[in-house]
Amino acid sequence: MTTTLRRPDPRFEPAHVRPANLPTRLRPADLLRITDQGVADVLDGVYDHLLPRHWDPVERWATRLVSNDDLDVWLISWTPDRSTELHDHAGSLGALTVLSGSLREYRWTGQDLALRVLDAGDQAAFPLGWVHDVQRHDPLAIQTESGAQASPGPITPTLSVHAYSPPLTAMSFYAVTDHATLRRTRTELTDEPE
Ligand SMILES: [Fe+2]
Repeated sequence: MTTTLRRPDPRFEPAHVRPANLPTRLRPADLLRITDQGVADVLDGVYDHLLPRHWDPVERWATRLVSNDDLDVWLISWTPDRSTELHDHAGSLGALTVLSGSLREYRWTGQDLALRVLDAGDQAAFPLGWVHDVQRHDPLAIQTESGAQASPGPITPTLSVHAYSPPLTAMSFYAVTDHATLRRTRTELTDEPE
């Protein structure tokens, strides 16, 4: 009698199996869940010792909440008139959950930039190759004569929790050309989130 070893049916491969072509065992869905938990922990006061006494209305602020071999988790405060520039996350997957306020994201679709607004509670995942620019979104902002956006009231923090896996080590930055293509302008070694 012979025994035939059956190959596993890829349609029913368990979700936790690490995709062979990715540099991390975590999936975008894992990162979304992790950032959601990060938001809950911030709101529960788990990271109160890391938070600033006052939210700076001008300079963007970020602190690392979790760091290990698999991932970095960051809490970021977004300020008006600050753009991250179009960038990727090199060999890292990413995800975010908005904790308070709103963000707007311009994502390169391959032909142009698609805009979406992410409000508190909204989530986004960034697969490999994702190129985007993220900014604070103030729906009630007033356009000044110089073209800058001015907030009509006191600055309230816009916060989001981000996860990157493997932890960020580099990012490339891009410009959209007159021919509606993307041109890489520089690459930076960094573990700071954008
Ligand atoms: Fe980013």
